[in-house]
Order: sequence, then structure tokens, then C-alpha cells
Amino acid sequence: MLLIWMINIFYFNFIAGQNSQQCTTEKRCQCKKVESGLLADCSGLNLNSYPTFFDGIVTIDVSYNKLNDFPSTLDVPTTLKHLNISGNLLERIDTVKSRKLFSYINNLESLNLSSNFIPLDPQVYPKDIFMKLSKLKSLDLTRNILTQCEFRNLDNVINPLVSLEFFAIDGSQKISFGFGFQTLKFLKHLRLYGSCNENRLLTIKEDYFDNLSNLKTLDISSEIERNFTSMNWTTSLCSLFYIYRGAISKLSHLIYLDISYNRELGLCGFSNITQDLPFTQIRILRANYLHCNAGPSVTLLCEDIKPFINTSLEELYFDGNNIDFAQTGVLYYLPASLKRLTLKSNRWIQNRYTYCNTFGLTNLTFLDISDMNQHQISSDEQYVSCQDFFRIINCEKLRSSSFGTSLNPRVWEACIEQCLNPRTVENFYQQKKQDGVNNDTTNISYPLTCSTPISFATNVNMIFVPRNVEHIVMNNSRLGHTLTYTYFASSNLKSLILSHNQFYSLIGPICNATKLKYLDLSNNRCSHLSAYIFRELIAVEKLILDNNLIGSAQILKDKNIRDLFSMQLKLKELSLASNGIKFLPTEIFRNLKKIRHLNLSKNQLTDWNINIEHMRHLTYLDLSENQILFLSDTGMAFIDSSFSKKFAIDLSLNPIQCNCDSYSFIMWLIKRQEKFKKFKHYNCPLIKPNITDIPTANIYLKKKCSSYVSLIVLAINLIICFLAVLVIVIVYRRRWKLRYWYYIAKRQYFRGYNGVADENRYRFDAFISYADEDRLFVTKSVKTKLEEEASLRLCIHHRDFIPGCDIADNIINAIHQSRKVIFIITEAFLKSEWCMYEVHMAHTENVMSRQGINMLILVFKEEIPQKRIPQKIMQIVQEEVYIDFPDDIEDEEIFWNHLTDSLL
Ligand SMILES: *[C@@H]1O[C@H](CO)[C@@H](O)[C@H](O)[C@H]1NC(C)=O
Ligand SMILES: *[C@@H]1O[C@H](CO)[C@@H](O)[C@H](O)[C@H]1NC(C)=O
Ligand SMILES: *[C@@H]1O[C@H](CO)[C@@H](O)[C@H](O)[C@H]1NC(C)=O
Ligand SMILES: *[C@@H]1O[C@H](CO)[C@@H](O)[C@H](O)[C@H]1NC(C)=O
Ligand SMILES: *[C@@H]1O[C@H](CO)[C@@H](O)[C@H](O)[C@H]1NC(C)=O
Ligand SMILES: *[C@@H]1O[C@H](CO)[C@@H](O)[C@H](O)[C@H]1NC(C)=O
Ligand SMILES: *[C@@H]1O[C@H](CO)[C@@H](O)[C@H](O)[C@H]1NC(C)=O
Ligand SMILES: *[C@@H]1O[C@H](CO)[C@@H](O)[C@H](O)[C@H]1NC(C)=O
Repeated sequence: MLLIWMINIFYFNFIAGQNSQQCTTEKRCQCKKVESGLLADCSGLNLNSYPTFFDGIVTIDVSYNKLNDFPSTLDVPTTLKHLNISGNLLERIDTVKSRKLFSYINNLESLNLSSNFIPLDPQVYPKDIFMKLSKLKSLDLTRNILTQCEFRNLDNVINPLVSLEFFAIDGSQKISFGFGFQTLKFLKHLRLYGSCNENRLLTIKEDYFDNLSNLKTLDISSEIERNFTSMNWTTSLCSLFYIYRGAISKLSHLIYLDISYNRELGLCGFSNITQDLPFTQIRILRANYLHCNAGPSVTLLCEDIKPFINTSLEELYFDGNNIDFAQTGVLYYLPASLKRLTLKSNRWIQNRYTYCNTFGLTNLTFLDISDMNQHQISSDEQYVSCQDFFRIINCEKLRSSSFGTSLNPRVWEACIEQCLNPRTVENFYQQKKQDGVNNDTTNISYPLTCSTPISFATNVNMIFVPRNVEHIVMNNSRLGHTLTYTYFASSNLKSLILSHNQFYSLIGPICNATKLKYLDLSNNRCSHLSAYIFRELIAVEKLILDNNLIGSAQILKDKNIRDLFSMQLKLKELSLASNGIKFLPTEIFRNLKKIRHLNLSKNQLTDWNINIEHMRHLTYLDLSENQILFLSDTGMAFIDSSFSKKFAIDLSLNPIQCNCDSYSFIMWLIKRQEKFKKFKHYNCPLIKPNITDIPTANIYLKKKCSSYVSLIVLAINLIICFLAVLVIVIVYRRRWKLRYWYYIAKRQYFRGYNGVADENRYRFDAFISYADEDRLFVTKSVKTKLEEEASLRLCIHHRDFIPGCDIADNIINAIHQSRKVIFIITEAFLKSEWCMYEVHMAHTENVMSRQGINMLILVFKEEIPQKRIPQKIMQIVQEEVYIDFPDDIEDEEIFWNHLTDSLL
């Protein structure tokens, strides 16, 4: 504040220097340059005397102080053009000081004396007070005191103001605009609202504006609704009660008329005015709130509106008029020149016949039908009760006598043509057919698309809007609860606002709105969306879905979610705030390549899991008020991909966690802090309660987490060691199997492995496994008995192994190519490593490749004490065939027979 003041002093001194003058600023007025010159702005400083203003000053604003008199001629320069003394404590305008002042500042162009205590009384206003103000263009005397006194000679006071263009005065039944006003050729703008008491204007008779025929704008609205806090709004006393026919018709240049908030005027007063409008140049009519909130519902009749057809009305504001029913086709009488129409806060029951016949409104671009039927909600605020209920009832009775008789047959015809005739629907269907769409019902597939002929769609909402309507606002109108197949009869719609309704379910499709750029569906508590709801809205640039329940919509869990925004290739702004979204499907925004603003604030996200690299124009991502403790590494990486561009992200009001788990996130945050909106306000409720801001937390964590990091490293090392030991143990225990598989794999790699047990594939009937010490036994006895006598093919390693090959390979091959394996168990065998290797390998082969067919034969050539026999061999002995070699030579024959049998 002080700084601003100093700057102003500086500025002022600078300007003052230029003017070589001093602006008196002891009262801390601010001097600034405005269009018309220098302004001394002293408004709202509690001044009770005037500062002195230097010569260059053109505008003086001393409004809202405690001044109780006019400034003296010494205080103000003659150059003064604009003087604003509104909101002070002036009580008289006829003092010596004021007379002197007004003959001195004769360059004055505007004078504002509103909100003082000057009575509107001939005693107080001397005839000659404004005598010298021939340049005055604007005079505001409103919000002063209305008295009982008749003020018939107001024209005498005002008519010296030959340049007057704008005049504002409290409209009182005691004042009138006499002949003197006829001389004010430039008086174009009149405002009659302001103070209000029982002397406020009650009736405007037909001759009231006789001397004001140059008026272009007239504001006779009532003060009552303008400031509820300062007014006693339980009364409608401030309202105009009557306005006679013929009064307005005198104003043949009238372009703008405001009769709003005259709660007692009713539609009777309104229709008195409309009857006069064809005699004016009316372009804009404000006729809002002509009834009391608590008043009865009324019917809008064709008679009320009919005269409009003969005007060039461009804007009609007709809000809050308690209309619940309208005569069929009433809107037919609105003129084709109409551009803006608002019908807010009425009580209209949806009635297609009412909206018929609006196709003629080819210039209409803006339509506001918000706040329908709000009276049904009991409201304890801003209710205005009317004085005389029966007056309204009588008015309605009077008007209703014309009901029915006035209906123009042409209106009916046109209405029937457009709305009632079932052929209308057929017409759309015909049109579709011309477009080459097949109308074969059997081919209608669900869900519906916009190319489905609408005659087959159930529940079609045909929206009959005039052809050039661009903006439709239907806020807070209790629409719902499902937005089904909706077809606009015109494709020129650019913005559609449907917030604060009850669309719990958005199904669509929304058709023929291909130019729609702005769609607001916020505050609908919507918890169900179809994947194709937005499919046809290809031009949408801004989509507002705030304050719904999309977080609980099924589609979020569905793979169709990738279709939801898939056609919004032009979308620049998407708002999904306050939707209770806990997670985002990764593909949800995959086609939003033009997006600039993405608002996901006030949800329940805990991380960021969406790739935003393709959003090349994204400048702002709002994640404030979510549940983010810290972002995961992938979350940070996704966001990092956008940091190269002009991009900002808001993470404020998230419960950011500051501990060693989130340390990398905190560091990341600090490093990129200029990219984070409101970074200074981010805080984390840390263990130490007085560290809350992120940079301090970072310093704290740096110390705390370095030990933590080494602890983690240690722990990881320990885990690795443990795992290594575990692996070694496992490998050791499985070493035979592993070796076996290793060789099998090797075989397979080099020769192609034949794992199927196929009799013909064995090269040998038996592989003889023995220790070198027993070689003689093998070559002499075994070979003779089995190979020569029983003509079996044997594999004997010193004969059949391929020289040059790895011995282990040879063993595996031998085992693998032999139907049986015979182990000659002796003390030497048990000591030989290779023999034991053969035992293990053969056993593994037996288990792994031979489907449990016995292939192992143990021949105990020597007596071996049981405790010396290795476990593996004991296991085989239990599972497989074993034969003891007899000590007796006689028994040898039996033994050989036995062995030969087991091989065959
Ligand atoms: C004072 O009156 C002038 C001219 O009528 C106007 O521009 C200005 O906004 C007014 N100031 C206040 C505070 O109303
Ligand atoms: C309404 O009146 C109150 C009290 O007089 C004032 O503070 C407020 O600014 C006024 N509001 C408007 C919109 O004029
Ligand atoms: C408001 O107006 C009513 C009716 O004229 C009157 O009885 C009441 O005293 C007024 N209230 C205030 C606070 O002026
Ligand atoms: C409408 O005008 C007629 C005649 O000009 C008058 O008698 C009647 O009171 C007016 N109605 C309203 C509500 O102003
Ligand atoms: C519609 O608007 C255009 C352009 O503003 C204007 O030239 C035309 O006269 C208007 N049509 C009617 C019927 O007023
Ligand atoms: C389309 O529907 C119309 C009316 O039901 C029918 O007369 C016509 O034969 C249909 N055309 C085709 C191609 O099915
Ligand atoms: C779609 O919009 C176009 C252009 O406004 C209009 O001519 C057409 O009749 C509309 N289609 C339907 C089926 O209403
Ligand atoms: C936090 O509080 C402790 C004791 O209350 C104090 O010693 C320490 O300096 C404070 N730290 C900060 C950053 O204010």
C-alpha cells in the first residue's frame, strides 16, 4: 500500500513537474492519467474537507467520503470537466458555496451527486443553480431523498443544461418532465431508478414521456433487486405498479428499454409496453423479474408478444417472470431480427409446442434457458413478496380472456407442420435415406450412431433450435437424468452449457453438433458415461466435466475408455476436477494431441501414470488437491518428458510426504521448482513439525537419508550374498541333474536329441560300466558270455568310446544309446570317480528320459560291506535289478543266464 502510494507520489511529482504545478496530496489522493487528462482520485478516504486541486486536473473523484458541502472555488480549477461527489453527506445544493461553484466551473461535463441526502424538492433546487453549466453532458442525482413535495418545475432547473445527454434521477410520482425538457435536444439517456420509498414512482401515465421524445435509452427498472443487502427487500414498494399504454410509444427513437425488477408490474404492465414498442426503434428490451418470487405462476400469451413481430428487436431478456405455461407457438411472434434471448428462472414445463415455430428466428445466436423451476426448491433467501396478490390474479384473469381466441390459424398450421406432424420425424428419416444410409432395421446395431436413421432410435431428443443458434445455456434446469441420443436440428451450435443439472448418465451420441467448441457438463453428479458420448463432437476445444462422479464410472475400468476422448483431436482444455478419480487408465488421453490445459484437481490420484509426451502443446497440468504423497519414478519420468517445453504443473494441497522413501521425489521437485505452480505453498507434515516447506525438508532429508542410503546398500549386499549361497547350495544338490541336462542339451544342440524311447534307436543292448581294475573280467567273461554267446551288442568304453571326444560326452552318449546299463560293482568301482559319474548319469537318464522303464542292472562282483556302499547305489539297489556275482563257478552259468534274460 505504502509502495503504491509512493509510486503515485513519484508519478504525480513527475506529472506535476511537467505542469510546473503542485497537486495537493496532503489527503493522500492519487493522481493518475486518464483518457481525458489528469484524475485526482480521492474516493473512499474518509475525507471531511476538500484538498486543493491544481489547475491541470480534469477529473476529481471524491466519492464515498464524509464531505458535507461542495468544494469552494479556491479548491478546484476552472478546467475541471468531471466531478464526482457521490456517496457523501451533502444535504443542500442551494448554498452560497455551491451557487458560486457551479457558476465558476463552467467547463463541467459530468456531475455525479448520487447517494447523498439532497431532497428532491423545489425548495432545495434553485431555478438558476445549473445556469452556467451549458457544457454539462451527464448529470446523476439518483439515490438522494424522495420527499412528499410536488416537483412540477424540474424542467426549469434542468433546461439551462442545453448539452445534457444523460440524466439520472430518482423516479418519483411527485416529479414530472415538463415542457422545458423539449429544449434539451441532446438528452438521449434517462435513468429513473434510485432511492425508493412510498414516494417512488407508482404509475407512468401515457403523457409521462411527452417531452422526452429524443430518448434513445430509458431505464425505469427498480432498485430493489440491485442490492439486497442494503434494501428492505421484503417489500416491493419500489416497483412501478402501472404503465399505461401509449406512454412508451411517444419515444419514437427509443432503442434500449429496461423495466426489470418492477415486481408489481406483471405481464399486464409488460403487455402495455409491448403494444407500444412497434412505434419505437427498440433493439434491446430488459424485462426481467416482473413478478414476485412468491407470486403465482402465469401464462405467456401470444397477445403479450405479438407486437414484437413488427419491431427490430435484437435482444430480449425475459427472466424470472413465473411463466409456467405458454400459448402454443407463442415464440412464433418473436421477430427474425432477434439475436439474443434469455428466458431464465421461469417455470416452464417442457412443452414441445411452445418451442415450435422458432425456425424463423434466423438471426438468433444466443439462447439462455437456465434456472428453470427453481421455485420448487424452497429458498429462504431473496424472496420478494408482492403487495397485492389479487391484483396479479385479476390481471391474469383479464389477460386470459383473450386466450384461445387470439390464436392465429397460421401459427397452428406452422406449429403442426414443424412439431406435431409425425411426418417431421419421417422427414429426417427421408433425409437420412438421401444421404445413402440404409434403413434396414435388421442392420441397426447398438449402440446407436448418428448415422442410425432416427426413426429407429427410441428416445431421440430432437432439439429444434433455429438454424443459426450458436450458444445454448441451460444451467440448473433440472434436466436429466439420462442424456440419450440427441439430435440438433441445426449444426451451427458452438457452445452448450448444461451444468448443474441432473444428468447422472451420459449416453449419447450427440448428433449434428459438429461445430460445437465448448461443452460444459459440470456439476451433474454423472456416474455413467458411454464410450461414444463425445464421439461425434469432433470440434470440441473446451470440455468441462467438473464436479461429477466420473471416478466411479464403470468405463474407467473398461478397455473402451480409450474411445472416450478419442475423437477430440482439437481439444485444448479438459477439466475433470472434483470427480473422485482414484486412478487414470493409461490410454484415456491417448488422442489429446492439442491439449493445453488439463485439470485433474480435487480428485484422489496418488501418482501420475499417464504418458504425456504426445501432448506437445500442454502448458498446464493441475493436480492440486489430490492424494499424492510422492510421485513414483515412472510418474516423474512421464512428467519430465514435458519439461522441455513451456509447461507448469500444480501439486499444491497434496499431502506430500517428506521422508527417505520420497527423498528422490523431493530432490526432483527442488530441481525443477520453477515449473511447479505455487511451489512456495507446497508443504509436508514432517516428523519435525516446524519443517514444512520443501526446501527446508530437503536439507533435513539430505542428512537423514544419507545414512539411510548406506543402510539400504548394506541390506542389499546382504540379500545378494544370501541369494548367492542359496543358489550354490541348490546347484550343488542338483549337480548331477544339471550335468546330465547340460550334456543332453549339448547333444541336442550338435546332433539333435531323440528323447523318445524307441527300441530301434539304441545302438547297444547294454553299456558296461566298470572300473579299469575289472577290465579283464569284462573283456574275458562279460564280452564272451553276452556278446559272443548271447550275441548282444555291448558298449565297452575302452573299445567303443570315440577317441578325441570328451569322456563325459562319451559316457552320456553311451548311456543314451544303450537300452540297459550294467554296473560291475567292485571296491575299485566305488573308488572310481568316472564310475560314480556313470551311476549318477545313468540314474538321471533313467528317471528323466525312460519313463521309469528299468534300465539299470547292478552286478555285485565282490562282497562289499553295506556301510561302504554309497547312498546313490543303495537307492538303485532298492529300485532296480541287482545280481550278486556267485562265488561258485557252478552258479556262474545261472548268473549269466539271469543277466542275459534281464537284457532281453
Ligand atoms: C464518479 O463519477 C464518474 C463520472 O460520473 C465516474 O466515472 C466514476 O466511476 C465515479 N466514481 C465512483 C467511485 O463511483
Ligand atoms: C450494497 O449495499 C451495501 C451496503 O450499503 C454495500 O456495502 C455494497 O457495496 C452494495 N453492493 C452493491 C452491488 O451495490
Ligand atoms: C421492511 O418493510 C416492511 C414493509 O414495509 C416494514 O414493515 C419493515 O419494518 C421494513 N424493515 C426494515 C428493516 O426496514
Ligand atoms: C395498462 O394500460 C391500461 C390503459 O392504458 C391501464 O388502464 C392499465 O392500468 C395498464 N396496466 C398496467 C398493469 O399498467
Ligand atoms: C440479421 O442480421 C444481419 C447481420 O447482423 C442483418 O444484416 C439482418 O438485417 C438481420 N436480419 C433481420 C431480419 O433483422
Ligand atoms: C426404408 O423404409 C421405408 C419405410 O419403412 C420403406 O418403404 C423402404 O422400402 C425401405 N427401404 C429399404 C431399402 O429398406
Ligand atoms: C443438421 O444440421 C444441418 C445444418 O444446420 C441441417 O441442415 C440439418 O437439417 C440437420 N440435420 C438434422 C437431421 O436435423
Ligand atoms: C524447529 O524447532 C526446534 C525446537 O522447537 C528448533 O530447535 C529448530 O531450530 C526449529 N527449526 C526450524 C527450521 O525452525
